[in-house]
Amino acid sequence: MSDAPIGVFDSGVGGLTVLKALAGELPGEQFIYLGDTARLPYGTKSPETVSRYAVQAAEALASYDIKALVVACNTASAASLPAIREKLKGMPVIGVIEPGADAACRVSKTGNIAVIATEATVRGGAYQEAIQRLRPDARVSARATQLFVALAEEGMHEGPIAESVARHYLTSLFALPGAPSGAGAAPSALVPGGAVPAVPDTLVLGCTHFPMLAGAIRAAIGTRVRIVDSAATTAKAVRDRLGSLLRASPARRSSVRFLATDSPERFARVGSRFLGQTIAPSDVELIDL
Ligand code: DGL
Repeated sequence: MSDAPIGVFDSGVGGLTVLKALAGELPGEQFIYLGDTARLPYGTKSPETVSRYAVQAAEALASYDIKALVVACNTASAASLPAIREKLKGMPVIGVIEPGADAACRVSKTGNIAVIATEATVRGGAYQEAIQRLRPDARVSARATQLFVALAEEGMHEGPIAESVARHYLTSLFALPGAPSGAGAAPSALVPGGAVPAVPDTLVLGCTHFPMLAGAIRAAIGTRVRIVDSAATTAKAVRDRLGSLLRASPARRSSVRFLATDSPERFARVGSRFLGQTIAPSDVELIDL
């Protein structure tokens, strides 16, 4: 058992969707959340740059005597978990890719799984590999949907623009009719003989920002595709991994200390939407990495 806080890191405010799930799953814990807002987005950058930034952020959080680190950023998890683990030797470091892949493999009936993520995450192939490792018969397709990040940041996660962008990205992935109604094709049932059908029955939201757009995505793909968001499964993975390191007094409310590398005001304003509760600018500390 340890009273030390759990460090949570993301390129910006998107990881607050993971923090929310963590606080729900581990109510007695203290968290320190770092958003590297000065260098967002990571999703358009090279693996080397993402890895360098992520290791710096992880080291900064480690200096706050955390007992574990949650890399609540898909792009950073995909590019830099081994490098972070190497730097923070001995500390539990949990990313979001494996829990997301695991959840997708469990809910998909047909084994045809689609992943949407940032350019860097899709290019690196981490989700595709993790899913294939857990379920070798799976058919995985992945698409970079970078504009979703900007839409979520701008608070334009609902309405006609978000739905039109969702259709733009998802039409070919789900073999949707071109019509703008967005009713969506039904995922195929299992093909006799074990072949994986052509249309995915499961969609992984492989980016911290995408849960904000779940409504627009749902409107585009219809109601029959399962949508997997790794936040909840990551929180469960953290609970299982930390085990005896968790605080013994779960009745206490969790508390969060917020750190950002740029504008506390913007972090508080945009982050409040992602967290689903108000963050005051005065509660956000500005740090340099
Ligand atoms: N947090 C990033 C992720 O989950 C999205 C934002 C970015 O591109 O930095 O991949």
